[in-house]
Amino acid sequence: MISFEEVGLRYGTQPEIFSGVNFTLSQGSFYYLSGPSGAGKTSLIKLSSLTQRPTRGFIRMFGQVIEHHDRKSLTSIRQKIGIVFQDFRLLNHLSVFENVALPLRIKNIASSSIRQNVEELLDWVGLGNRMHYQPLMLSGGEQQRVSIARAIIAQPHLLLADEPTGNLDPEISEKLLKLFTQLHRMGTTIVIATHNEHIIKTHPHPILHLDNGILTERILPTFPDLRLKTSPLSDISDTIKNL
Ligand SMILES: Nc1ncnc2c1ncn2[C@@H]1O[C@H](COP(=O)(O)OP(=O)(O)O)[C@@H](O)[C@H]1O
Ligand SMILES: [Mg+2]
Repeated sequence: MISFEEVGLRYGTQPEIFSGVNFTLSQGSFYYLSGPSGAGKTSLIKLSSLTQRPTRGFIRMFGQVIEHHDRKSLTSIRQKIGIVFQDFRLLNHLSVFENVALPLRIKNIASSSIRQNVEELLDWVGLGNRMHYQPLMLSGGEQQRVSIARAIIAQPHLLLADEPTGNLDPEISEKLLKLFTQLHRMGTTIVIATHNEHIIKTHPHPILHLDNGILTERILPTFPDLRLKTSPLSDISDTIKNL
């Protein structure tokens, strides 16, 4: 699904924040990304989501080296990735509904289906009554939920979430973890950057740990494979119903 080969990144003339990172995430895996503030978690998520280019090394996604892709195939790869940015990155001139609908509009989904899926998901994350607001009218926690809804609405093949529960109450965090778990069971590969020890304990998955430019994988006991044998990637409304 993703592999990094000797990837390095520096901003401007600063020293490298990664010193030759290597890892492979297979399709259908679920990883946490941990490490102290400033370790480079957000940078790693940006590299994996192709919103940042490495300064050295190679990144392969879906089996091909990214540098060899033309613009059109990069666009098609990006459409398979759902991203929750740490700073949300919502489009502030659009309503909450339109922000969440965007990935479906890009895929030319019929508007009746868009309406149903977006409304159901926004209801589910507790924002049914905020659908016609603009993002800046919402609290940080509410904007974070919009950003999560936008990332998962199109049932991405890969979900990259950067501290997605950073602004949320424990109760809603738990509810979202159940949703991520369900997406994973239905075939989505998931990487969650988080500091939230409680979530890591209650929903155990392997951990990629970043510190001082070095990435290590925490060896943990084996995890039960709860994935469904089929990989339907159906619409989000079915996913929510199964919870
Ligand atoms: N756009 C940028 N320009 C310059 N330095 C940056 C930029 N983004 C991040 N950094 C630096 O890179 C390091 C890693 O940052 P980041 O990836 O945000 O870490 P984390 O998410 O683990 O807190 C930090 O020292 C940060 O200051
Ligand atoms: Mg960060």
